[in-house]
Amino acid sequence: MNNTETSKAHIIVIGNEKGGTGKSTLAMHLAIKLMQENYHVAVIDLDGRQGSLTKYVNNRRNFCSKHQITLLTPVHYVFEPLSDAGNIEEIKDLIKELRAKFDAIIIDTPGSKNYLFELAHQYPHTLITPIGDSLVDLSSIADIDPNSNEIINTGCYAEFVWETKKHLASQGLPYLNWVVCGNKISTIRSHNKLSVFAKLENLSKLYGFRFTEGLKDRVIYKELFLDGLTVLDLSREDLHRRMSISHLAAKMELNSLVEFIFAKQC
Ligand SMILES: Nc1ncnc2c1ncn2[C@@H]1O[C@H](COP(=O)(O)OP(=O)(O)O)[C@@H](O)[C@H]1O
Ligand SMILES: [Mg+2]
Repeated sequence: MNNTETSKAHIIVIGNEKGGTGKSTLAMHLAIKLMQENYHVAVIDLDGRQGSLTKYVNNRRNFCSKHQITLLTPVHYVFEPLSDAGNIEEIKDLIKELRAKFDAIIIDTPGSKNYLFELAHQYPHTLITPIGDSLVDLSSIADIDPNSNEIINTGCYAEFVWETKKHLASQGLPYLNWVVCGNKISTIRSHNKLSVFAKLENLSKLYGFRFTEGLKDRVIYKELFLDGLTVLDLSREDLHRRMSISHLAAKMELNSLVEFIFAKQC
């Protein structure tokens, strides 16, 4: 993780104009990973109506007090959309304050556009977009003709990120590190999966993101949520969890993903 503006937090926004792709799960895993690497991390849940990241953090706190253990847990804030958008200035002030105090701020966003979604996208140094391995999921980036492989339409989220990039550039901010990563990817080798990945590789050059296959579909993510745990916690002896091959693979996938996200770009 690198900042051109020293002493300011690296801001990571997790976004996609689509629900259920794993944004909140990824936000929590990334927070724990960075904390394990000794970064001082704050998370902001701007999808407060859904509140998945907030529930994740609360589940973790409850798990710790129930079992009387300490687990790395990020400092956490949550905001819900208001009909008069009356919390915008409060959020801006908070981000300003946190930038001076933390190494990283991770902002989780709703799966559809509202003013909180738009506000989050004014800040990222790194933008991470998790996406499933179906053409339906791909459509937030682009609609592709499956026969000719031609782009029929630019997807609403890719359009939005293009505007975001223009905004960041107009503010003299560093070039956006946009990563699109697979999530909940089928563990079997299927023609569909390979075809979606190939399409994303092609789109990456056109739309200016880097693509990586990311995380597989593993039931462990659903199970761990209830205790607020991540695949990165499982090796702790005091949790008394058996680490299966699938858990180990999940941890390796996550580590590779984080390495990819923050890899130095030439
Ligand atoms: N890699 C994965 N494998 C299996 N289930 C996953 C994975 N990532 C997320 N999930 C599950 O998918 C559901 C939606 O995830 P969530 O993070 O809430 O998505 P979003 O924030 O994009 O709406 C949750 O039940 C979560 O546990
Ligand atoms: Mg979410």
